[in-house]
Amino acid sequence: MNAATEMYGVMGNPVRHSLSPVIHNGAFRRMGRNAVYLAFEVTDLAAAVNGIRGLGIRGMSVTIPHKTAILSLLDELDDVAAKIGAVNTVAWRDGKLVGYNTDWQGALSALEQKTVLQGKRVVLLGAGGAARAIAFGLKQKECRVFIFNRSLAKAADLAAELGFVHGSLASVETLDADILINATSVGMAPNDGESPLPKKILKPGMTVMDIVYSPLRTKLLQDGEEKGCRTIDGLEMLAHQGAFQEEIWLGRKPDVAAIREDLRRALIEKHSVSGDPPNAKNGFPLTADR
Ligand code: ATR
Repeated sequence: MNAATEMYGVMGNPVRHSLSPVIHNGAFRRMGRNAVYLAFEVTDLAAAVNGIRGLGIRGMSVTIPHKTAILSLLDELDDVAAKIGAVNTVAWRDGKLVGYNTDWQGALSALEQKTVLQGKRVVLLGAGGAARAIAFGLKQKECRVFIFNRSLAKAADLAAELGFVHGSLASVETLDADILINATSVGMAPNDGESPLPKKILKPGMTVMDIVYSPLRTKLLQDGEEKGCRTIDGLEMLAHQGAFQEEIWLGRKPDVAAIREDLRRALIEKHSVSGDPPNAKNGFPLTADR
């Protein structure tokens, strides 16, 4: 590092568990970029956004709980980020601070590595922030989406907004799908023996994606493998959304496979240092930090 080093970072709270520094510092190093990426635990969001402006920070990731609150503090919003109502990436464009969302792109890229999306029947489990971003992505691909959630009203609202169908999590068994996505936190350690669905719903040839990455092989993905499904683990969306952030900041897409490998190594190290399985108490996020 020297006087020319560019600064990037992530703003969240809590943020000490974040894997974003692993994603971006590795990518900067491989690209030969004189840049550093730090984690900022932010309570006063307006002051933090002023900090971006005042210090000339080049780019910022935004995570829980600031993804929505930051909308009104930026100069402009990318169209999709505005529709989703959440920003996970901040970048400078022509002297203006602009908010983007790469979660939906990350999810689509993770899925598209294993399957074609156009016109497919997709069961989406969850109606929280992550599910919302994924649902907007699926809409762009003209998928037929069925949204299931524990709280039915949240599923109904999201489905109505996008012209999708909704149901309660308990009624999911009646559905047949090409693609199944878990965007709930069910299956996350320490409840890693749980799956959001009974195994019998999974069918050979189905594509099953889980956004939970701790553990990497969730019960849902294990069941999927046993039933002959194509499976996509939680590091894929995380790695891809980070790669899209790099593209926004630097105009260049980094090596996603290398990011994924960095993340996998960081997760293994984290477990071996703490000696405990990952859980909310020892600082692990409940779902992917995007
Ligand atoms: P994120 O930003 O990761 O999406 P979130 O917005 O808090 O986090 O959403 C969490 C999702 O996981 C929601 O869909 C939530 O269901 P509810 O809307 O009913 O709360 C779902 N979820 C969390 N714990 C769950 C559980 N034990 N069983 C079923 N769904 C659960």
